[in-house]
Amino acid sequence: MIDVMMPKAQARLSGALEHALQGVAHRFLPPDAPLQNRRVLFALATDDYGMDEATLRLLRRLRSDAHAMDGSIGALLVDGESELYTKQLAQETALAANLSGCAFFGKPLVEGTGSLYNQHILAAKAGMSLRETYFSRARELVQSLEHFTAPKFRRPRLVVLHASERGRSGTLWLWERLRERLEGCCDIREIPLQNGTIHDCRGCSYSACLHYAQNDTCFYGGAIAETVLPAIRDCNAMLFLCPNYNDAVGANITALFNRLTSLLLQSDLREKYLFGIVVSGYSGSDLVAKQLLGAMCLNKGAMLPPRFCMMQTANDLPAAKQLPGIEAQLDAFAAAMHSAMCV
Ligand SMILES: Cc1cc2nc3c(=O)[nH]c(=O)nc-3n(C[C@H](O)[C@H](O)[C@H](O)COP(=O)(O)O)c2cc1C
Repeated sequence: MIDVMMPKAQARLSGALEHALQGVAHRFLPPDAPLQNRRVLFALATDDYGMDEATLRLLRRLRSDAHAMDGSIGALLVDGESELYTKQLAQETALAANLSGCAFFGKPLVEGTGSLYNQHILAAKAGMSLRETYFSRARELVQSLEHFTAPKFRRPRLVVLHASERGRSGTLWLWERLRERLEGCCDIREIPLQNGTIHDCRGCSYSACLHYAQNDTCFYGGAIAETVLPAIRDCNAMLFLCPNYNDAVGANITALFNRLTSLLLQSDLREKYLFGIVVSGYSGSDLVAKQLLGAMCLNKGAMLPPRFCMMQTANDLPAAKQLPGIEAQLDAFAAAMHSAMCV
């Protein structure tokens, strides 16, 4: 059974839904319906100015109840009247729902921008119109939502990716404290993305990228191609350590997101969980968490377990050590990781 949460109707969104839900058991939920233990399709609309009041009320409801979506799985269909705001609304909703307990499978978003130009590559491949492509992807999304079951592992292989310095970094200290709590149940591999050795993606042509990928490398080669991508290919879960640099993840982690294309031409991330620790000196951890889930789950296809990210505000290592209630928060995050991944 698919439960559709549609705070605002829009003609093309209703058309896409009708096509996507044909023959699928479903019901439309009122705005205040319980959302736990369900398969929820968020059907969202934006106009020239972004989201409307009813959609904002939904976001506020999710943010105000830390357990609103416990036990649920989500997917997102976002229809825009302009070229802007669809991705922003998708990321906002995914983070709010996830922090209230909702899991997402990999690539849980289908968006239709005003012009539907965002469908052009897939439309050309499938030989369909932009609208047909959009509608057919909406249907595939519903099918993924209907059938998704989260995998569990006996002893998951966890890869931890960071670009921080031990003994100086509060983010890395939080990880060390978390690591003590996870060693009993996971095989852990830490991979530092060293400053100065990581090149960002060069943006090769598709065929050049494919050629390099088939030889297990990339134009630049180096640590990303030789160490990081194989480790990601072989893991069951990834944990990204993300200090907030100008309201975004740091350059090395961005470079890794961009260079994943080479791995994704050969394999996918759909059976891998995504976790994060985000630390800001002042504010804005939600922006960094949205960037992380946007890149790795909505775009690249890793799964988002409930409450995938721990967010803290601490400008340096001493401040991280003094975070109020940090030991209990680490206990809770370790328990959430364990229950998401382990048999
Ligand atoms: C280049 C740079 C940019 C930063 N930008 C921000 C920012 O935009 N917002 C913020 O809250 N903190 C910002 N900070 C502070 C870091 O997020 C903060 O110091 C964080 O805790 C660093 O983590 P670490 O102790 O693991 O190195 C910035 C720090 C650096 C070095």
